[in-house]
This record gives sequence, C-alpha cells and structure tokens, in this order.
Amino acid sequence: MVTRADIENMYEKAKTAVVKATNLQQLDQVRVEYLGKKGKITSVLKTLGQLTPEERKEIGQAANKIRQNLESDITDRQEELSREEVAKRLAAESVDISLPGRERVYGHRHLISQVIKEITDIFIGLGYKVAEGPEVELDYYNFKALNTPADHPARSLQDTFYIRKAGVHPADDDIVLRTHTSPVQIRVMKSQEPPVYIIAPGRAFRRDVPDPTHSPMFHQVEGLAVDKGITFGDLKGTLEEFSRQMFGRKSQVRVVAREAFEAGIAEDGPQIRLRPHFFPFTEPSAEVDVRCFACGGVGCRICGSGWLEILGAGMVDPNVLIEVGYNPEEVSGFAFGMGVERIAMLLYGVPDIRMFFENDTRFAEQF
Ligand code: PHE
Repeated sequence: MVTRADIENMYEKAKTAVVKATNLQQLDQVRVEYLGKKGKITSVLKTLGQLTPEERKEIGQAANKIRQNLESDITDRQEELSREEVAKRLAAESVDISLPGRERVYGHRHLISQVIKEITDIFIGLGYKVAEGPEVELDYYNFKALNTPADHPARSLQDTFYIRKAGVHPADDDIVLRTHTSPVQIRVMKSQEPPVYIIAPGRAFRRDVPDPTHSPMFHQVEGLAVDKGITFGDLKGTLEEFSRQMFGRKSQVRVVAREAFEAGIAEDGPQIRLRPHFFPFTEPSAEVDVRCFACGGVGCRICGSGWLEILGAGMVDPNVLIEVGYNPEEVSGFAFGMGVERIAMLLYGVPDIRMFFENDTRFAEQF
C-alpha cells in the first residue's frame, strides 16, 4: 500500500526529472512516466477505490495535489525549454558579419561574340540590318546561286562537309554545312526587293585539319548592299569607314597605332588597300587589307608588311542578281565577307585559333 511519504518521494523524483530534462521530448517522457494513462501517479489514483475512507481521503488529497503541482511544474519547464530552443535557433541563424563575403562570378560574352557585336554595331550605325541564315544549307544557296560552277574547288570533298546527297531531300539537292556566310545574300535577295543593306554574322564550316590558323568551324560576317547606282567607290568608302571605326583608336593595342602616327614613324593615309582577286559571285573582286593597327603601316611583328588581310569583297556579279530576280540594268551592289577569328586574333594577340574553341576558362576570362 502506498503511503503519503511514498507519494511525496515520487514527487521529489519527478521534479528532479523535470529540471533535468534538456529538451521538450525528454520532458514529455517524464510527463508520460508520472501522469500518463499508465503513469505512476495515475496508478495511485486508480487504486484509491481499494482503500478505507480515511486512507482514501488522505492519499487521494495528497496524490491529487502532487498531480496538480507536477502538471504546473511541467508547464513551466515547457515554456522555459521552448524559449531556450528559439533563442538557440536565432543564435544559429544570425549573420556573422565578420565572415568574408561570397564572391559572385559573372559570365560575359565570348571574345568571338564580342568582336561580332563590334563589327555588326558599326554597320548598324551605317544603316544596315542584321540577317541570318541556316548553318545546314542547300547546295543551291551555298554554291549554285552564287555562280559557283560544279567544278569549283570549293565544292570538293576536301573543302565541304556534305550532309546528304541529292535525291533524298524533297528539294532534290545536296545538303552541306555552309562553307561561308554568302548564301545569306541569296536568301535575303530572294525574300525582298532592293534596296538591300544587310550584315550577316554566323558560323561557317570547312573540312580543314585544325592548326594554329585553321579550324573546321569558324565565323564570318557577310555584308551586302544592293541599290540603284552602287559603285566600287561605295564599297571602298564603306570598308574605309568600317576600318577606321574598327581598327581606329579604342583598345590598348589600338592606342599604339595612334602613338605611332603621332611619333611620325607611321605613314598616314587610307586605312585600307585592295588587291585584285577572284570570287565566282563578285566581279570585279578584291582582297582587302587594313593598315596594321599596331605599327600604323610601317611593318612589325604582327603584320610583317604593314598591312593585314582581313576580308574578301567585290561587286555583286550580274549573274547572281539575275538568279535572284533582280535586274542588273536597274540595280547594282557590293558584297564582302570577313573572318571573325582572324580579326580577333590580330586585335587581341591570340596566337592559335583553336584557343577560341577549347573552352578553357583561363583563356575566355581574359577578354
Ligand atoms: N565568301 C567569301 C569567302 O568565304 C568571301 C566573300 C564574301 C567574297 C562576299 C566576296 C564577297 O571567302
């Protein structure tokens, strides 16, 4: 039989357990142990019926009082522990302002994209619109419509990636990876009437074995102007203005050119030089050199001769105008195409074209 002393003892033990509980789960275990359905104090209260009336009064009162006391002890401790837990969580979550900040690394345009943007921006300033065409192209647009005969060396298996032979495609034509951006000329002219003033940046592909100056994938920027009365003089003037803006006096390397001019060691004069050349789709055609931006034209390590070859150009061949449905008696035009990698290599001193496409961030980050 339980005595009053037993019950008081029980309460002392329970109180100690309440104080010792360091978290809410432990505290709940104490509650279950004493006050749960099968708890120690609950059991005492359940056996009251077996006692004599006097005993029942004494033990009953004591046990009930202790149950109430323990309940309020547990509630108090519960509040205390919750407060502690919140405080702990806040302390853990608070910001340590002595820690160094996290650096955010921002990406930026690849050098090739930067140079393409620089080139197109200059022509946009001259009133040109940007045009694009597919990289996988029909033979017709890449060669035939550009007055390039079937026996032209550019069409050989050594130069061109052939995707499909004629007869498979509904257009009944060979499909190639375009070898230049010039097919965009045909696509644009076929889709609109003159006047045409477009610039067409994009990828081109040739079956070249990679070496420091060759890559089977590379970029070009094509230009085309067709209007009434366009002359070779317009072509020269346009390219001269482009070269002044592009290779003038902006970047670090370009400052060298200005200093060379000012020091009198560089020749002044036109920015560009034209040499006769042949392209099937222009007549006459020329290869265009720009005055070396590093030495100003006297000759240096970068250019050798004082001039840098950067583009091909010419007057649109009348056969091409007829092919797209234009009348060569009414309109004339010029076209040019430049290699983006070559320009980027010259301007930024990149020694090997393969570096552009190796995806080494140590290279890409520099520009
Ligand atoms: N498409 C020529 C090439 O890739 C360049 C060019 C374009 C020449 C336009 C004349 C006119 O070499």
